[in-house]
Amino acid sequence: MDRIAQLIAAMTLEEKIGQLTMASGGYAVTGPEVSADVSGDVRAGRVGALLNLWGAEAVRAIQRTAVAESRLGIPLLIGLDVLHGHRIIFPIPLGEACAFDPELWAATARAAAAEAARDGVSMVFAPMLDVARDPRWGRISEGAGEDPFVVGEFARAKVRGFQGEDLALPDAVAATAKHFCAYGAALAGRDYASADVSERTLREVYLPPFAAAIEAGCAAVMPAFMDLSGIPMTAHHALLRGWLRGERGFEGVIVSDYNAIAELLRHGVAENLCEAAALALAAGVDIDMMSDGFRNGLPLALAEGRVSMEDINAGVRRVLTLKQRLGLFDDAFRRKGGGDGREPAKAAAVSARELARAAAQRSIVVLTNDGVLPLPAGLGKIAVIGPLADARREMDGPWAMAADRDDCVTILEGLKGALPGTEIVFAEGVAIDGEEESGIAAALEICRGADVVLLCLGEAAAMSGEAASRAGLGLPGRQEALAWAAFSLGKPVVALLSSGRPLTLPWLFERASAAVATWFLGTEAGNAIADVLTGRFNPVGRLPVTWPRAVGQIPIFYAARPSGRPFDPIDPYTSKYLDCSVEPQFYFGHGLSYGRFALSNLAALQQCVGFDDVIRLSVDVVNEGSIEGEATVFCFARDVVASVVRPVLELKRFAKIALGAGERDVLDFAFPAAELSFPGLDLQPRFEPGAFEFSVGFTADPKELMTIRLLAVAGI
Ligand code: BGC
Repeated sequence: MDRIAQLIAAMTLEEKIGQLTMASGGYAVTGPEVSADVSGDVRAGRVGALLNLWGAEAVRAIQRTAVAESRLGIPLLIGLDVLHGHRIIFPIPLGEACAFDPELWAATARAAAAEAARDGVSMVFAPMLDVARDPRWGRISEGAGEDPFVVGEFARAKVRGFQGEDLALPDAVAATAKHFCAYGAALAGRDYASADVSERTLREVYLPPFAAAIEAGCAAVMPAFMDLSGIPMTAHHALLRGWLRGERGFEGVIVSDYNAIAELLRHGVAENLCEAAALALAAGVDIDMMSDGFRNGLPLALAEGRVSMEDINAGVRRVLTLKQRLGLFDDAFRRKGGGDGREPAKAAAVSARELARAAAQRSIVVLTNDGVLPLPAGLGKIAVIGPLADARREMDGPWAMAADRDDCVTILEGLKGALPGTEIVFAEGVAIDGEEESGIAAALEICRGADVVLLCLGEAAAMSGEAASRAGLGLPGRQEALAWAAFSLGKPVVALLSSGRPLTLPWLFERASAAVATWFLGTEAGNAIADVLTGRFNPVGRLPVTWPRAVGQIPIFYAARPSGRPFDPIDPYTSKYLDCSVEPQFYFGHGLSYGRFALSNLAALQQCVGFDDVIRLSVDVVNEGSIEGEATVFCFARDVVASVVRPVLELKRFAKIALGAGERDVLDFAFPAAELSFPGLDLQPRFEPGAFEFSVGFTADPKELMTIRLLAVAGI
């Protein structure tokens, strides 16, 4: 018998259910702490995992209770939401996605994992892999945007970064792919609302990022809160046991979302906790996060024959296997939080901060620029106005639980540091929210004599993330009034937008000399923004989401299926709005740099490809600008005629290339022709012979793409 089998054989039912139970660490004035009740449960073997606890001392103490004082001495899993950094905060995932840089995505996850592990954390509730096409949904900020391929690459990179070479290493943590599945399709962008998605869209859009995470060896999966076409994900047998465990062979742990098992009662699929627990366990959930559904419901469910001891044992085995893979049985204190309690090495903190600055630089997207940026050297006076200019505690954005929010560099500080010779004056003008306008006059006053006005607008950190949906995507409070006042001065105005989502501000993009999406960039926000504004860093960020003009266009994404009546300005009976353009404000992939790039000579190695071939395309990229820069190039495919309607464009690959001024190079794309398969009429993967178009460009704007045709044949 192996060690895990021996343990299971020795366990009481209560101890087994304990391993399937995750409780919360609490907060004291001094920081996170475990309550006496929870300590008692750990000692009695009634709790096998904790969340919301970090810090060497606190984790070591409770881990010692588990290992030394509980009957079987099983160590605890310690889980935490580490979405974009732990103590040092990196850009929100939507921002970091703009870098289109898997190495960077992995590096920030690695740094976050190392920091979290030093704080005793062994499991992170990240990455968030929900494809999001509705910016009303506040959780769009937590993921990598609208495209399944991009989110899939993000998944691989993050899992690699968090888990490292080997989960047992002291700086590795178990990753949790969440929220499975289609949470981003919540009705009307309202968090926790129902989602209704076809099997086809599920297979094409929402499942692939999770498939990528599983392929990368992701240790855990978290089902989403909502119901998918009538079945709550926490009880979704077909997707959890069927697709995840059956089809994809996932053998890791499924951890419920917070209180989600008890919420099955509210969904109306269970009458009591016993039924709810039975439904969740039968569907494949191993760990009950915070609902006490397993603890209070499973004993009766077992007695009534609704669940079997085999199912309970299988869940316990998966949890214990994860603990074993994390090395916790060999040394529960191997993560530094449980070990010698040393302060994080200074060098590691410094390099994490440097990484935070680099990641933040690469996340910034210059949306419009009439030439005012980069700011020329030797400016006499810059007026910085707006509620986000010196908003230290907002810069981290949502989900930064262990961060010291006072540690962030504000935009104002970053600029002052970067431009010591320039007079920089500041006034807030208005608050982020609320009706007060009385500060606008003073803000205008300080703009007198300024060469340029920097208008720092946007959302508060708490306006995106969980439970932070918005029905309108304009500027909250009286910020619009401040913007119009600034425009009335007739000076160049650069708008900096801090937000967790695209904001619908067509008037601002029309009127500002430049507009820059700065999302929530984390600890080094201000320095990175100053680097971009001053031209010290030539911007590389590109949008991983289509940016709408109006809320009425939502959901909006580039990979739409073609209409039988595509928009035609001279034919009224075509697909359009009477009161708004069908075009987005900015296409997927949009983002300016301070240089200019051009593409030419798109070519394919073959004219004809079979299923087993690798498609090879090449395109020339030239830097026509006068400074070194980096271009991001997207490669899309379209199946011209197929048995089901295929999207007008589907991203197959993206690539980045750094070129000096005037330099030219060839960029190659290679991918298996098998990736042209799609769910056929029977929803099984089909590779259909016929013509395919491959388009290459800097954005998904069809007007800007270069396209060639290839023929796919059944076999060569
Ligand atoms: C969120 C999850 C998170 C969990 C634990 C839930 O409310 O939906 O994303 O991991 O809380 O904090």
